[in-house]
Amino acid sequence: MIESTDSLTLALSKGRILEDTLPMLARMGVEPVEDPLVSRRLVFPTNHDNLRLLVIRATDVPTFVAHGAADVGIAGKDVLLEHGGAGLYEPLDLDIARCRLMVAGYPGALERAGNRPLRVATKYVETARAWFARQGRQVEVVKLYGSMELAPIVGLADVIVDLVDTGGTLKANGLEAFETIEHISSRLVVNKASMKMKHAGIDSLLQAFASARQAAA
Ligand code: ATP
Ligand code: PRP
Repeated sequence: MIESTDSLTLALSKGRILEDTLPMLARMGVEPVEDPLVSRRLVFPTNHDNLRLLVIRATDVPTFVAHGAADVGIAGKDVLLEHGGAGLYEPLDLDIARCRLMVAGYPGALERAGNRPLRVATKYVETARAWFARQGRQVEVVKLYGSMELAPIVGLADVIVDLVDTGGTLKANGLEAFETIEHISSRLVVNKASMKMKHAGIDSLLQAFASARQAAA
């Protein structure tokens, strides 16, 4: 039950995360006016007068919340790492859309590159640079927006940094995972100013999410 006299805007990530988020919202008693999985709306009033939802691209959620366009958001840890998290609190792990951020490639690819800079294809440019810098390995990063697994196959990169869940996509393309950079799940993020100004409402929303997560466990 969400009790808020503050008006709250909650930014949801489209795609996989949305599919896991909607059952949580239902357990919390939050009903959007239309089904976000089929509607072309971007803003969804709900049965709670003081709560509206935005449905946006996963990678945009930290930006909307950090700028205060939304008070609260739901985003993958992968996206939050890449964003850097400035202006955001990350108070709750929702334990949905779980996967791992990994380095992968053809078997032996890391060794075959020898001492030359490793060519890395990824959507996660900053995270990949930081990971290889910590290992003292020089890299040339190629930014892609999807289908990272194709890069080693067509000679665009030696390795990829990408999300792995079942491992099915790697296997189907003859690739293997080498190392885990981070365990990923979706997190609740809160705008720092909203946390102060709308503390009671946000606290109530956090409690409701925490209960819905427990109910699913
Ligand atoms: P965008 O449109 O912003 O580029 P996308 O097309 O990658 O995002 P999705 O594939 O729905 O959108 O993934 C969004 C989020 O879901 C990721 O940031 C990650 O946190 C999680 N995710 C992605 N792939 C998987 C997976 N295979 N298993 C579990 N969670 C995943
Ligand atoms: C994600 C990720 C991998 C795949 C991993 O891709 O980028 O390609 O899922 O899942 P698996 O280990 O269970 O096979 P997505 O399906 O989102 O497509 P994308 O390449 O367009 O991002």
